[in-house]
Amino acid sequence: MGGSYEECRSLACGYVGLETGRRLVREGHEVYGIRRSLDPHLAANGIHPIIGDITKPQFWQQLRPEFGWIINCVSSSRGNADVYREVYLRANQFLMHWLNDTEIDRYVYTSSTSVFGQRDGSWVDESSQIEPLTDTARILVETEQCLLEAARTQSVPAVIVRLSGIYGPDRGFLFQKFVSGEAALDETGDRYMNMIHRDDAASGIISACQKGTPGQIYHLTDNQPVTQREFFEFLSQELDRPMPESSQSPSSPKKRAPTHKRVSNKKALEELDWHLTYPSFREGFAPEIAAILKSAADME
Ligand SMILES: NC(=O)c1ccc[n+]([C@@H]2O[C@H](COP(=O)([O-])OP(=O)(O)OC[C@H]3O[C@@H](n4cnc5c(N)ncnc54)[C@H](OP(=O)(O)O)[C@@H]3O)[C@@H](O)[C@H]2O)c1
Repeated sequence: MGGSYEECRSLACGYVGLETGRRLVREGHEVYGIRRSLDPHLAANGIHPIIGDITKPQFWQQLRPEFGWIINCVSSSRGNADVYREVYLRANQFLMHWLNDTEIDRYVYTSSTSVFGQRDGSWVDESSQIEPLTDTARILVETEQCLLEAARTQSVPAVIVRLSGIYGPDRGFLFQKFVSGEAALDETGDRYMNMIHRDDAASGIISACQKGTPGQIYHLTDNQPVTQREFFEFLSQELDRPMPESSQSPSSPKKRAPTHKRVSNKKALEELDWHLTYPSFREGFAPEIAAILKSAADME
């Protein structure tokens, strides 16, 4: 940031957006966080809360065009394809329209590595073929195309970051299943998963604001794709608990089709000057594991 002061706006201050905003406030930015409901964590972290719904045209009509960066971390809140269409595609279309009358330095949008549907365990990078397997992934692809088109034809400084499975404090679906004893290995457990710690996602988004090239896509994922089996073996060893049973049926209802791919972060590391605090799940889950072991020891 070089001590410079810029106003920044974060659309949708949820799990990742709040952490991103918190860091930007600490670096001296003035940050506004938008959500549909009031969350006291925003103000508590120095973020000016704005209540609004980015899928509504009225929201964009009353928005002041006075921002250096816009960071869009909205999620579908586990919604279906209709919600995806509203929250990702339509809201971005409104934003592109709004940007006709205003200038910003960067627009960073968080997409997902679920745009890749590869099932062969191959490595994928930003130039790999997109093969969305689900309706929701197809909407994410359509949204990315809308932004890339706007970068080409409208000179919108849009940068897309694709996040893999986010985990961190109080978040981590498979970890929580393992801890509660409800985890099950999906079939052989040999399918690769790709993950990113919340803090590294936030630092990657800020790096994309600072160093991202408009019209480019960057993968924000850690260094080590891991199979489900390897992940459970790690937890089993660290927490001294048995391995979950293998199950032919998935352990939980899944919205995502079972892809099997390893996502490369090479471009983001090289071009965004992005440094990982948690290069793999081993470092990333260490604080949660230590807390569980401590509380078990305290109870003895
Ligand atoms: N979770 C994953 O593993 C994963 C994987 C790949 C990519 N991603 C992407 O990563 C990004 C960050 O995810 P996250 O886990 O931080 O999301 P999150 O915790 O669910 O936060 C999303 C935020 O969006 C707000 N929001 C939802 N609809 C809105 C609307 N119409 N107008 C204004 N605000 C709205 C929600 O607040 P209100 O409900 O108060 O409005 C919430 O604060 C998302 O773009 C997500 O798609 C996530």
